[in-house]
Amino acid sequence: MLASVVERTIDTWYDEKGTPPAKREEMNGFRPNCLQAKAGYKARPLDGIWAAGPFLHNGSVPSLFDLLSPLSERPKTFCLGLRSYDPVKVGYKTDCAEGTFTVDTGIPGNTNVGHEFRGTGSGGSGIIGRGLSEQERWDLVEFLKTL
Ligand code: HEM
Repeated sequence: MLASVVERTIDTWYDEKGTPPAKREEMNGFRPNCLQAKAGYKARPLDGIWAAGPFLHNGSVPSLFDLLSPLSERPKTFCLGLRSYDPVKVGYKTDCAEGTFTVDTGIPGNTNVGHEFRGTGSGGSGIIGRGLSEQERWDLVEFLKTL
């Protein structure tokens, strides 16, 4: 439906402007108006990621530093609900206090596995890169703050 509406809208614009076929092809990027990505989970852009914690699609990792750490070092439980920000690890503070609730990553749907930098990075489910030294993680956190 969306593709059809978009196509009609574009064609109407081309018709109104009298755009010749060759120019239309060029402006279409020489590709059909359809989904270009293969089937798979599409990661969001990382612009403003410093403000988007907790991380991963299910909010199961509280900070960017934790996300760059191996699963064994990610918090298994943490509290959410505070509005105080942690500019060091980059994410909301996870202290438990009145009004907060506990995220338990052991509950189905809350799992914090995947997107892991571990070992040589040469295999394993959810492993996307080699293990990062602590300094490399802090350096990446600094970079991510700038996006
Ligand atoms: C140093 C390299 C990388 C950095 C700093 C990085 C950073 C991030 C961050 C911060 C997120 C969380 C986004 C959010 O919570 O909204 C994310 C998500 C994601 N990244 Fe990466 N990433 C890196 C490499 C990769 C690689 C190599 C892949 C694929 C092979 C990948 C695939 C994904 C996917 C699929 C998600 C979404 C996961 C989800 O929401 O559960 N990333 N990345």
